[in-house]
Amino acid sequence: MDFIGDTTILGLQLFILLLCMMGHNAAEQEVENLSGLSSNPEKNIFAIRENGTTCLMAEFSARILVPYEVPSSNEVDWNPEEANIQLPRDTDIKGKCWSNESELHLSWADNAYTLKLFFLKDDPMKPYSNNWKINKVQFSYDVSERTNFKTGARPGRHTASRQHLSLMVTPIGMSYECEATERISLTSTDQKKTVTLFLSNVHIQPFDIQRDFVYSEDYKCPTDQSKQLEEMLPLILGITLGLAIVIILAVYHIHHKMTANQVQIPRDRSLYKHMG
Ligand SMILES: *[C@@H]1O[C@H](CO)[C@@H](O)[C@H](O)[C@H]1NC(C)=O
Ligand SMILES: *[C@@H]1O[C@H](CO)[C@@H](O)[C@H](O)[C@H]1NC(C)=O
Ligand SMILES: *[C@@H]1O[C@H](CO)[C@@H](O)[C@H](O)[C@H]1NC(C)=O
Repeated sequence: MDFIGDTTILGLQLFILLLCMMGHNAAEQEVENLSGLSSNPEKNIFAIRENGTTCLMAEFSARILVPYEVPSSNEVDWNPEEANIQLPRDTDIKGKCWSNESELHLSWADNAYTLKLFFLKDDPMKPYSNNWKINKVQFSYDVSERTNFKTGARPGRHTASRQHLSLMVTPIGMSYECEATERISLTSTDQKKTVTLFLSNVHIQPFDIQRDFVYSEDYKCPTDQSKQLEEMLPLILGITLGLAIVIILAVYHIHHKMTANQVQIPRDRSLYKHMG
């Protein structure tokens, strides 16, 4: 009797736990699709909200190059091919928001493709570490999907990933912004082939969003920063040149005055004769 009682209670506990977990997942997370705000048809914009406020916000375009093989005409050899996969707007988006780790899961084409980005925040207790970054990227793909892979391709589902990354390193409390394209090489379970992920027009904040639907201060990527500098260079050069001219004119003017004064001193030529 006791045994039955215990298992019943255990079962009940498990059932309640399961209910809690389901409630936790179902009730609290919402994904807002904001892609319509952009005129770029390849850009995804979305906000993940938890407990009634935004916990992760992101926008970017993504393209993935996947090498694979198709049989050659002699049907003995394999010919190399490359699939160019564009992240579409009708993507199924899920996210996970914790205090020091976040995740973004995008899947499309009936789960034939899944792209996962993993974010990590430095432990604030540690000195000299106050950034967040992407530390892992994972892309899984199904070669039997026909819009991107040719018929005859060696079938199979593969995962390309890379760990221990330091990408998009951004000070805590700020959002990362990068217009320039960034490329990330991943290693595939398909014969260690190199799959390349291209991210562009990126704006991401996976932690510490202060206001619902609003990015915190932007942190521009180094490429954008130098581009900004390049755009400002003519102005800087102009100002420098202007200053240089002013200084040269001033020096010339002073010099001219001084030499004029010097000329004036030995006005009486007879003085020279006596001195000599
Ligand atoms: C949402 O609330 C739950 C329960 O109170 C908490 O565990 C979780 O960390 C909260 N999520 C965010 C993003 O604050
Ligand atoms: C998100 O919005 C865009 C633009 O309105 C639309 O094309 C796309 O299908 C939407 N995505 C989902 C998953 O509904
Ligand atoms: C995240 O925070 C928890 C508790 O604050 C800590 O135990 C854990 O080690 C942290 N994880 C990382 C990856 O820093």
